[in-house]
Amino acid sequence: MEVIILSSPEEASEVAARLVARQVREKPESVLGLATGGTPCKLYQLLARMHRARGLDFSKVTTFNLDEYIGLDPSHPASYHRFMEENFFSNVNIARERIHIPDGLAHDVPAHCAAYEKAIHEAGNIDLQILGLGSDGHLGFNEPGSSLASRTRIKTLTERTRDDNARFFTDGQEVPHHVITMGLGTIMESRMCLLLAFGKGKAQAVAASVEGPVTASVPGSLLQFHPRAKVLIDTEAASLLTRANYYQWVYKNKPTWQIDL
Ligand code: PGA
Repeated sequence: MEVIILSSPEEASEVAARLVARQVREKPESVLGLATGGTPCKLYQLLARMHRARGLDFSKVTTFNLDEYIGLDPSHPASYHRFMEENFFSNVNIARERIHIPDGLAHDVPAHCAAYEKAIHEAGNIDLQILGLGSDGHLGFNEPGSSLASRTRIKTLTERTRDDNARFFTDGQEVPHHVITMGLGTIMESRMCLLLAFGKGKAQAVAASVEGPVTASVPGSLLQFHPRAKVLIDTEAASLLTRANYYQWVYKNKPTWQIDL
């Protein structure tokens, strides 16, 4: 795990955007795993700007989103279909047929989840997975207690996550209880993971994920087993890390042979 502490969410998003851009330039047919929520918004803006201003080409890229609410139509303002359309897909040149998001209206959810797994496998697996971190430590919508070997499936949200996400729903709309999410086993098969977490509200989940024991009670901690995981956080999200000074020293003093951003 490489822990990179930056002074602001903007600066961390810039580093993340450079990593994604490099991945797409080096392998134009990259398979990207995408996340939703407040955290990756700036990253998507920066990638869209790189597309417009510098011709970053997504035309051969395939994408798989982590999750979607069960029961929400793709046009629902809080659906992740709509989020992705508004925050990213409408601003870059990803081919529609290579965009994949779990279908929250699927009639046969287990069959849909199995087909989603198969599609990831047939695309050659995910090259780079963007991840947010729930304040309860979830990855995707893999809530605490999720099997560390889980695959794409239905999950029930914790009250904490439903409270956290209520801000995306207008007054009177209930946050769904059920979702489809890629599993932790699915996420762990990506070749590289980029975990982004910003703000004080994430500090505890970041500390437990980075320095705590690996446990299903903190799904983010499973990344300690990932061979290529980068954790991009701002100083507030890093505030409970006991080795923050060490991570900062390491990042600032990377020998040139080790610099990959
Ligand atoms: P957030 O959510 O980016 O809206 O904080 C992160 C997550 O739930 O993974």
